Amino acid sequence: MDADALIERLWRDYVAITPQVEPIHALLAGRGERFGNDHIALRTFEGPRTGLEALARPFERRGWSATGDYRFEHKRLRARSYSHAREDLPRVFISELCTAQFDEPVPGLVHGLLAQIETDASPLDLLLRRPTWPPVPYATYRSLLERSEYAAWLSAFGIRVNHFTVSVNDLSTFDGLDDLNEALRAAGFALNGTGRQIQGSPDVGLEQSSTVASPIPWTFAGGEQHTIPSCYYEFALRHRDPNTDRLYDGFVTSSADKIFESTDVRRG
Ligand code: NI
Repeated sequence: MDADALIERLWRDYVAITPQVEPIHALLAGRGERFGNDHIALRTFEGPRTGLEALARPFERRGWSATGDYRFEHKRLRARSYSHAREDLPRVFISELCTAQFDEPVPGLVHGLLAQIETDASPLDLLLRRPTWPPVPYATYRSLLERSEYAAWLSAFGIRVNHFTVSVNDLSTFDGLDDLNEALRAAGFALNGTGRQIQGSPDVGLEQSSTVASPIPWTFAGGEQHTIPSCYYEFALRHRDPNTDRLYDGFVTSSADKIFESTDVRRG
């Protein structure tokens, strides 16, 4: 499986649980837009088999290399970004929950999930096999949700891509990210955050906005169904770094911290 095939598989996996992607594509295609993905973001739990270093390996083997490390102290996450020499391939942003920093029951509940992963699963299998573990009891999801929205999301959906990101630099019919946000709101899509609903600025090199995650019916242990937020779509506009005259290639921690909240049912 080459780099393009890997991204294609992850894309299909993402679209399958993100009903808002198709209408947003239709909206952009209706204006004649063609665009690539700025980045994809993966969520995982720390650990020798599941941690970000393990999940990065399939990408590193296919030509991605690390570009930065990030910490989100309050959410107890750490993350690393990767870029590919081919500019048509998305950056990859992998975050992991520092499970051991939580009090019980979080470490115990997460350990229970990780123990159910098939013992022969390689990092590539973890990226592609569904489900990562059998359906979680709804009570476990609720218990994790009280302590970490990120942990709850992962328990339900497994290790997978949480969002793809439209490269706003590729768009030609919008006057910046404000204009795109306005078109999305006018079409009925709820965006994350308040005010301008944009994280970052030209000064820091990156402006980002995101939809609020789509609620979808999801099956928990025992066949119990509940409607919970799945994935969101993100929009990124990169600016030229005056020192290098190249587009800014990294991520802005304070912006990403807010974007993580696009899946938080307890807000908005
Ligand atoms: Ni993102």
